[in-house]
Amino acid sequence: MILRNSKLFLDSKKVIPSGVNSPVRYFEPYPFFTKKSDGAYIWDEEKKKYIDFCNGYGALLLGHRRKEIIQAVSKQLTLGTLYCTPTQSEIELSNLIIDNFQSIDKIRLVNTGGEATMTAIRLARGYTKKKKIIKFEGCYHGAHDSVLVKAGSGSAHYGISVSDGGLDEVSKNTLVVQYNNAEEFEKTIKKNKDIAGVIIEPILANMGLILPENNFLSDIRKITKENNIPLIFDEVVTGFRVSSGGAQKHFGIKPDITTLGKALGNGFTIAAVGGKKEIMDMLSPEGRVYQASTFAGNPVSVSAAISSIKTINKIKNKLYSKLEKYNLQFTRALDDMATDMNIPHQINSTASMFQIFFTNKPIVDYPSSKNADAKKFQKIFHALLKQGIFIAPSQFEVVFFSDAHNRTDLNKALDAYHVALKSVKN
Ligand SMILES: Cc1ncc(COP(=O)(O)O)c(C=O)c1O
Repeated sequence: MILRNSKLFLDSKKVIPSGVNSPVRYFEPYPFFTKKSDGAYIWDEEKKKYIDFCNGYGALLLGHRRKEIIQAVSKQLTLGTLYCTPTQSEIELSNLIIDNFQSIDKIRLVNTGGEATMTAIRLARGYTKKKKIIKFEGCYHGAHDSVLVKAGSGSAHYGISVSDGGLDEVSKNTLVVQYNNAEEFEKTIKKNKDIAGVIIEPILANMGLILPENNFLSDIRKITKENNIPLIFDEVVTGFRVSSGGAQKHFGIKPDITTLGKALGNGFTIAAVGGKKEIMDMLSPEGRVYQASTFAGNPVSVSAAISSIKTINKIKNKLYSKLEKYNLQFTRALDDMATDMNIPHQINSTASMFQIFFTNKPIVDYPSSKNADAKKFQKIFHALLKQGIFIAPSQFEVVFFSDAHNRTDLNKALDAYHVALKSVKN
């Protein structure tokens, strides 16, 4: 009997390139097709239930179908879905974001993280009247030409360091520096007088998980300040996840521009770019930096984001410490298991995210992450999947906890990791 997921994949491949609408969703031999989700769980078309640790690649901080958000969105659906005029709720959302993120004076809403980083980079170029940007190896900022150079996530997974169809004329204006290497960064700045901006994931969550070492972020801030170069923190993953004010609040560092997405809408399509007033005021129509979108600030996504932030603000005193505790206990137990089984491994973790790598060398940058045994990771992924545990299907992604997970879910996942680890034991 042909299984339903397999049949759907065959059907899908006929009409959708590679059968998926985003490359990271594909895995061998074919992905499962999801029917529904709730809380910490998703169910596929074969009625199999999974505990979800992919969590919309970090978007679902509060879990699937979070009650408060569904209520807010349902109410909005009775009032309309798209006006393409300003709304009072956009002001409310902007104020909520500004109150949470100290570095942001003004904010513009967009739809996706990629759109946010594209706008952030254009703003930096418009503001400085310079051309080049600096990004860091392995950081992923969306699928557009300026940043799709030595990027993480799916492009690292599929080994595409510069995409076919991307323009050399664009990518040659993107200088790439190793993550956690402030010295190389400073040298690059000294050598190039034409730097318009620097974009970085303050915590690198697209090469597995890589934490900024010691003073790395404060050095980057200091050097960019000394050279009058706008610093963009891409907080599409870390915003609202690492703290209610993102990684910048956690580290006490103020960037000039911030991009947000994912957890901002807890499963609804919304992202944002915000920053200093003098930079944000460069945006059209008052300014000369053009950015536009039909769906930006649509009332459905805005109602979801308002509800997400209000919920986060209400429960933040418990939320972040609970998730951090979950993560700490989980990763300690996982570490003990792998150590007991003599499996060379590294675990990087912070806040509500972690990743395990199969190597005995610390994972601190793109080369060290690339050198970990990705084949072993694939084995783990499949062994977990078989047991109803869904994590992102790539070494270069991250395992996310959400507010919807409970201790039983975590214990089940740990048991499943225990079984899975046996598949990579030599
Ligand atoms: C740090 C970071 N920035 C930007 C993006 C792009 O966001 P989107 O997929 O919504 O375009 C991602 C997506 O994973 C991301 O992780």
